[in-house]
Amino acid sequence: MRTQTITLSLLAALCSSVSALAFNGTGQLRTVYNRPPHDDLGCLTKDGKWTVDEPLCGVFTAVRTGNYNDYTLSAEGSGPCGIDHIYFTCGEGVTPRIFSTWGDNVPAPGLTVLRVGQYGVFATDAPDSPPPPGAEPLRIHFYSASEKGKYAWLGWKEL
Ligand SMILES: *[C@@H]1O[C@H](CO)[C@@H](O)[C@H](O)[C@H]1NC(C)=O
Repeated sequence: MRTQTITLSLLAALCSSVSALAFNGTGQLRTVYNRPPHDDLGCLTKDGKWTVDEPLCGVFTAVRTGNYNDYTLSAEGSGPCGIDHIYFTCGEGVTPRIFSTWGDNVPAPGLTVLRVGQYGVFATDAPDSPPPPGAEPLRIHFYSASEKGKYAWLGWKEL
């Protein structure tokens, strides 16, 4: 009985993770710890900065380009999202970037994350990340392995 319950809830979890396409329509960009079990470490603000303050989470629109797993992103009340030098950023005048994923359930089951080419792990310049509650959101950039704090993938939470 117990095994059956666990199997059914696992099945439900798997089904719900494939019922809607990640990075399609309206959602939040969640910062997901790149180490198992891939905890949710907050979200990105409308400017593309890392925060743990939920009311600051931006609302993003993802539009598929027609190519497999390719899409553009923009943030409500801000603007298109792109990569400014190495920083992920959204705002007026930002050159829109075509983002991709590695496919559903990659790099981990139930997880679909943003990538640009081979890069998908983000870090900050701060002594620690994520920033504590109430702190200024932090800009993020592709990690180089020398940064302090936790590294994150950008996952999608459909709204
Ligand atoms: C993708 O988004 C469009 C527009 O919001 C929606 O019509 C479509 O059903 C979505 N596709 C999937 C697979 O979620």
